[in-house]
Amino acid sequence: MEKKKYISMAVIKRLPKYHRYLRELLRKDVDRISSKELSERIGFTASQIRQDLNNFGDFGQQGYGYNVRELYKQIGIILGLTKDYNTVIIGAGNLGQAIANYSYFKSIGFKLKAIFDRNPKLVGLKIRDVEVVDSDDLEAFLKENEIDLGIICVPKEYAQDICKKLTDNGVSGIWNFAPIDLDVPKDVIVENVNLSESLLTLTCRMNDNLMGNRRKMKNPSQI
Ligand code: NAI
Repeated sequence: MEKKKYISMAVIKRLPKYHRYLRELLRKDVDRISSKELSERIGFTASQIRQDLNNFGDFGQQGYGYNVRELYKQIGIILGLTKDYNTVIIGAGNLGQAIANYSYFKSIGFKLKAIFDRNPKLVGLKIRDVEVVDSDDLEAFLKENEIDLGIICVPKEYAQDICKKLTDNGVSGIWNFAPIDLDVPKDVIVENVNLSESLLTLTCRMNDNLMGNRRKMKNPSQI
């Protein structure tokens, strides 16, 4: 089957979930799986799964299902996980430290090179062998090291300035946790993360339930 060129954002957003479930299956030594079985585990319909995966090529075989290892590998390629990403975190407060401590990122190729903070009390602290460096040294560090990805965990009033330093020095991906829309050059990709949006989606759905208005909508993870 010919690969389609345009992949919708809705499909892209489902891929990490496929990747996670397939990783679990590999851990359990499952070699192959049908779209129906995958559907029961993952919560998307079997036809949704077939449609999604057909976007990228012919991964399944009639009567056999999907080869789990191959599908995991192919989705990893689509997700850009065939290379490592040199990463820095700016802001070593509660959030920055939590992210630095999350070992899963390292296991899928995100190499944390340094954490920057302007608080002298934090400078020198080691989080999982990675040192907190004075943020005055950020630009010099970026010039000396090829960094792909910057994770912004500073208060919002400093986020744009930090972002500019990152993108002026070759960083092409920003994972932004500060509650602000960042202005970036066209070739830079920003992914904003907002836990409160997710929390408020939850409370909205809970209240709908309380009022007996259970929406006939799909679980948001299926949209
Ligand atoms: P925090 O106060 O614990 O940590 C912020 C750190 O940034 C501090 O260590 C501080 O010294 C450092 N900092 C401040 N200005 C800096 C600068 N110019 N350069 C380098 N370091 C600087 O705050 P927390 O809870 O870790 O939150 C950090 C950011 O993440 C805030 O913008 C907050 O609103 C946001 N946040 C976002 C969430 C989300 O779901 N997107 C969830 C929690 C926090």
